[in-house]
Amino acid sequence: MKVMSQILRDARKYEENMEKMISVRERPAFHLSARTGWMNDPNGFSYYDGKYHMFYQYHPYDSHWGPMHWGHAVSEDLLHWEYLPAALAPDELYDKDGCFSGSAVTLDDGRQLLMYTGVVKEHCINGETREIQTQCLAAGDGIDYEKYGKNPVIDSGDLPEGGSKYDFRDPKMWRKEDGSYCCVIGNRGADGSGQILLFTSQDGFAWKYEKVLIENGNRFGKMWECPDFFQLDGKWLLLTSPMDMLPVGFEYHNGNGTLCLIGNFDEGENTFSEQYNQSIDYGIDFYAPQTILAPDGRRIMIGWMQNWDTCNFRAQNISWFGQMSLPRELSVRGGRLYQKPIRELENLRRNKVAYEGVPVSGTVCLEGIKGRRVDMELTLRPEKEQDIYRKFAVRFAQNDKFQTSLSFHPEDSILKIDRKFSGSRRAIIHQRRSLVRSEGGKLKLRIILDRFSAEVFVNDGEHVLTAIIYTEQTADGISFLAEGTVRMDIEKYDLDI
Ligand code: FRU
Repeated sequence: MKVMSQILRDARKYEENMEKMISVRERPAFHLSARTGWMNDPNGFSYYDGKYHMFYQYHPYDSHWGPMHWGHAVSEDLLHWEYLPAALAPDELYDKDGCFSGSAVTLDDGRQLLMYTGVVKEHCINGETREIQTQCLAAGDGIDYEKYGKNPVIDSGDLPEGGSKYDFRDPKMWRKEDGSYCCVIGNRGADGSGQILLFTSQDGFAWKYEKVLIENGNRFGKMWECPDFFQLDGKWLLLTSPMDMLPVGFEYHNGNGTLCLIGNFDEGENTFSEQYNQSIDYGIDFYAPQTILAPDGRRIMIGWMQNWDTCNFRAQNISWFGQMSLPRELSVRGGRLYQKPIRELENLRRNKVAYEGVPVSGTVCLEGIKGRRVDMELTLRPEKEQDIYRKFAVRFAQNDKFQTSLSFHPEDSILKIDRKFSGSRRAIIHQRRSLVRSEGGKLKLRIILDRFSAEVFVNDGEHVLTAIIYTEQTADGISFLAEGTVRMDIEKYDLDI
């Protein structure tokens, strides 16, 4: 193996020292967070050598975005994480300004192959800088990775006509049953909006451009970042994260969003025909998800539990920034993506408290229902079918000063998450509404709280709403409120790692 660069050695030493300054209580309990400094997108999510591997966009030296490294962690259950040394640093001429997002597969010789976007800044005569983006490889043993001598392996010469070399990033590779390799890459086409390019390879090292798998055509935002493409339940799914979205009803919100296209794929012709589209997450903080096919056949997705426009909403005095979402098991039913927290989460459940048919009218607190690391399932129905309640709300991370709420109006079927009173001092988005499916005021909510987040799975994963909260941990109250009368079943567990 080539000698490790000084830049990577420095990063590894730095993170090892700095990690010691962060106590476990300052981190989420079961969500992966930056070892130190900044984290964004999940990268190289894979199962290798008996463990799940998660790499991530990483700037160890600051809790703000900077020259991108790849951080690295491993886990046996996707909930208990162990940090490994940073895997990649921007230390070659072709990636000196950043190792951007990418993916991982296992080679026939047993090594793990990473493909990432190498970034080099170009200085224009008008004083502006632009980033040239190419695709590069590194192979390794699960801890140390050596960059390929012939990098970059895909560059502007491989682009279709009109494809931008400045927006050409985030390769997601997979292996076909015949052992060959495929990869999808985000790109900006001639119309200024996103397109997803498909490449193939026989050995993982020499890549061939195949075709434009799908064009945005300015329908969903502009550039499409972090694509993923896979088969599930008889359909093919293209996940991507569009930039610069305009809102559409309650389905898509402004700014950076998430998009799931569901359709069919003709593997002989490499043609994707789209049938359905939807957001992946309807909350505030979820972006750039990546999936893995687990050894037991489950398709599991993890996203960056953050959004670019809300990054100024942060905790004070903490030297890490950025968390990953809960791993979510995916399925497709009736043309719709369903997400459930991975079943391993149930192993963390302690102290069950359950009530059946509790009448909620006005404000109600229940004995044993509180906490900040919680798995709580609520099943709601109206007291009388002819007299549907007007509003239901659950408040959590609550004390006399703070709370975050989830409120539901059956009349228009809108579920709202609101962290305005969670302790934030910033004037940024703190609320989001989602149109959910509810008949006659019936609704199921599974709420997972970790120290700094809330993830809400509606009707067994038909909709999911995710939001970061930084409320002080002593605010651990949970209460319920209804205008009219709701009958509520509740099952609640503490989650202990
Ligand atoms: C998405 C993204 C990717 C890029 C990376 C840079 O969040 O913008 O497109 O590779 O972040 O850190």
